[in-house]
Amino acid sequence: TIIPVILSGGSGSRLWPVSRSSFPKQFWPLLSDRTLLQETALRGLRPDFGAPIVVCNEAHRFIIAEQLREIGVDNARIVLEPSARNSAPAIAAAAFIVAEQDPGAVLWVMAADAAIDNPEALYGTLEIAATAARQGYIATFGITPTKPETGYGYIERGAPIDTAPGAFHVSRFREKPDLAQAQTFLSSREFSWNSGMFVARADILLGEIERFEPDLHANVGRSVEARLSDMDFERLAEDAFSQSPDISIDYAVAERTERAAVVPATFGWSDIGSWDALWEISPKDDQGNATFGDVFLDGARNCYVRSDGVVATVTGVEDLIVVVTDDAVMVSHRDRAQDVKKMVARLTQAG
Ligand code: GDD
Ligand code: MG
Repeated sequence: TIIPVILSGGSGSRLWPVSRSSFPKQFWPLLSDRTLLQETALRGLRPDFGAPIVVCNEAHRFIIAEQLREIGVDNARIVLEPSARNSAPAIAAAAFIVAEQDPGAVLWVMAADAAIDNPEALYGTLEIAATAARQGYIATFGITPTKPETGYGYIERGAPIDTAPGAFHVSRFREKPDLAQAQTFLSSREFSWNSGMFVARADILLGEIERFEPDLHANVGRSVEARLSDMDFERLAEDAFSQSPDISIDYAVAERTERAAVVPATFGWSDIGSWDALWEISPKDDQGNATFGDVFLDGARNCYVRSDGVVATVTGVEDLIVVVTDDAVMVSHRDRAQDVKKMVARLTQAG
């Protein structure tokens, strides 16, 4: 069986003012009338898959339960973290819980906030990844890079894996390289981006985590053993979990393991890291504008305009992002969309 594991921990500050730490981007309908969390959960809803596991901050538990209920997912196990310790402890917790019943089960770890098009291609790629995973590989999906992005992991493709056609050994995994390295990787053609999805057996993941991060393994293991059931939620024990190192799965395992495999992705992927990224993947009018909500345009080109509840009009401008919510207005050039995060940091400091 394949068990979908959905990580819902990020705060998405570059998508301010829609995304807030109390209600981050994965809980908003950014691309369709379903939220990103709902889209992600629906991808994991297949007759041959096991019940999904969502690992999240305890503050978001009711939002998640409600959003899953809306799409008819009633068998999810919602695992609550007492504090955010990054993705490696979150994934370890899911692996421990799955291993209680079936150590050989394959986990499909997904971010709650990525956009994927072409679901059929996704399942084809997943099939190959799961074949490799059953043989003991930790499989990643390789996305064809389009720019020297420094916020992603880069995967260097090695020799084909004969026993899993379509999958390749990973000769190197480098998380968040500097710009010069990213430029080298981009021009070499042997590198792809890491999508942030991982496919691996629970016992294999736990073995590698124990090998590279024994403290994390021990503390998360104790927090899972001592967890409490609270209605539909499983609450990880606070003392043990909070003592785990704070580290992402990319640094903890992907960069160090010899078991990594990569399957070149044939689906479209975006982590919707900024408003500009959302503009790129949104449907647009013939002037290149993407709009959402109560928006009227005249003579605008290549703009992203979104308004929730307030009428917004935009006239005669190009390459702008305009986002209106009931308590904030954000205007940015598309080229400066990454800097929204800095602005949010200033606002937070100013109180
Ligand atoms: N439950 C939980 N708890 N989830 C978490 C936590 C946590 O403490 N921290 C992060 N996550 C979740 C995020 O919500 C997201 O779904 C996923 O783990 C990845 O975390 P990010 O913080 O967004 O990682 P990143 O963007 O810096 O890098 C990762 O994703 C890139 C692609 O978007 C890496 O895997 C890169 O290698 C990859 O290229
Ligand atoms: Mg991310």
